[in-house]
Amino acid sequence: YDGAGPWVPDDPTLPALREAVQACEGCDLFREATQGVMGEGSTRAPLVLLGEQPGDQEDRAGEPFVGPAGKLLDRALADAGIDPDRVFRTNVVKHFRWSGTRGKQRIHKSPTRGHVEACRPWLEAELALVRPDGVVVLGGTAGKAVFGSSFRVGEARGRTTDWPDSFPLARPPRWVLPTTHPSAVLRTDDRDAAYDELVADLAVAAELL
Ligand code: URA
Ligand code: SF4
Repeated sequence: YDGAGPWVPDDPTLPALREAVQACEGCDLFREATQGVMGEGSTRAPLVLLGEQPGDQEDRAGEPFVGPAGKLLDRALADAGIDPDRVFRTNVVKHFRWSGTRGKQRIHKSPTRGHVEACRPWLEAELALVRPDGVVVLGGTAGKAVFGSSFRVGEARGRTTDWPDSFPLARPPRWVLPTTHPSAVLRTDDRDAAYDELVADLAVAAELL
């Protein structure tokens, strides 16, 4: 893919990004999605929560984390003592990738590395706009987008690191903290234990804010 670069405005506001992403043809995902989903929250938020891609409900609503995973994430933030107004929520890929349906719901399919790379200019623009102190990386796809393909969420979760040099930013966040994706918590057999781990990781972030 040629990537999103040509569609990203210079020095944009968040509304400008949200409008511009609707025209993006940086990879093939715009074809089957309803709309592009840009990040949501205060551009002065000290914390960015970084997910994978919009899901079925996010694709319809045009907002990130409004479906089941988002509801679980909201509850986990509250249990970790993080004020939702201090969080900017976004995804490494801005269009919903799916294949097949289950009832009325379209079934999520993870983006490829090519999709993630193509979409990176949007994420760079958001991070340049918000300039957060910290980033919480939710799950493997987001982790690979930030740290590279050797990232494993099971090994990295719960510990802060520096923002990697391999992802250059003019003003990088002071720390990054990987944790489980809320959708993975919903899929686990021992959901209560997985949820408690997510809250414990978010509590580490809360301490740093
Ligand atoms: N999962 C994500 O990674 N992002 C969303 O916005 C919703 C579900
Ligand atoms: Fe553009 Fe990203 Fe959508 Fe691909 S997924 S078309 S790069 S906004």
